[in-house]
Amino acid sequence: MNHIRLASPTLRFPRVPLDRFVLPTVGVEYLPIPENADLRGFLDVLHARESRREFVRAPEDRDVSDLLWHAFKTKQRRRNDDGYRWEHRPAPSAGGLHPISVLVMNRPPQRDAVFLYDPIAHALGRIEPVNRDVVLSFFSAVNSVLPVGEAAIVWFVADFRLTLSKYENGESLVWRDAGALGATVELVAEALELSSCAIGITGEPFVAQITGNVPMLEGVGGCLIGKRPIARESLPPISASRTSARRQSRGPVQTGDRRLR
Ligand SMILES: Cc1cc2nc3c(=O)[nH]c(=O)nc-3n(C[C@H](O)[C@H](O)[C@H](O)COP(=O)(O)O)c2cc1C
Repeated sequence: MNHIRLASPTLRFPRVPLDRFVLPTVGVEYLPIPENADLRGFLDVLHARESRREFVRAPEDRDVSDLLWHAFKTKQRRRNDDGYRWEHRPAPSAGGLHPISVLVMNRPPQRDAVFLYDPIAHALGRIEPVNRDVVLSFFSAVNSVLPVGEAAIVWFVADFRLTLSKYENGESLVWRDAGALGATVELVAEALELSSCAIGITGEPFVAQITGNVPMLEGVGGCLIGKRPIARESLPPISASRTSARRQSRGPVQTGDRRLR
């Protein structure tokens, strides 16, 4: 078995500070600020979180907006003495660099459009031009590990150049940032009572092509987000005989061999 051992990062010296590469977008859709109505307690959310793979409907625009705000919004930023921009967001990031940007896809009615989240303005902009065939190939790659259906695709694209400019052997820092983001988005999805499931592919080579083949800008995974089926306990009561008939007809959960779990 081949094992690529990622070297341990060290602070690069001397170094030339960089800013994160910002993908050019067209149009700006400012998103509403969440109302924070009826938010659940943190420990309740933490223990209730699980990978939920049924997406009965697309998330509403409001769901997407709330999810982006709670999981990814920038709260503070400043320029450090070493010239790097430091940011504070809900998920931690090595050096406060936040090299990972968030793409949103499969949003009706423009399902093949690719939106970039702006965590300062809390807004979405559309990446243009994108090769629709590449977007569809990407959807198909995601779909081969987990049926996408109506779910929104939330994908992470990392600017490795930013982290590597500050840290020698910084690759593992970027991957750990991706893990921190993945956990954060899933906890937020749980708090918002949405279905969410991480996807095990990186998204390459498609994400690099979708984002214009910028050097060292690469897909580092993502997740699906959608409306979850109505919880059994919130359904109106039904007779015992109908319950047992439903139970018998459901059968075992089907899992495809190609799913990465
Ligand atoms: C990095 C990562 C990649 C994953 N990839 C997939 C995937 O491709 N398909 C899938 O159905 N679940 C995927 N999962 C979800 C795991 O299967 C799931 O977390 C695991 O079975 C434990 O279940 P739980 O999340 O409900 O605790 C992934 C999870 C992580 C953290």
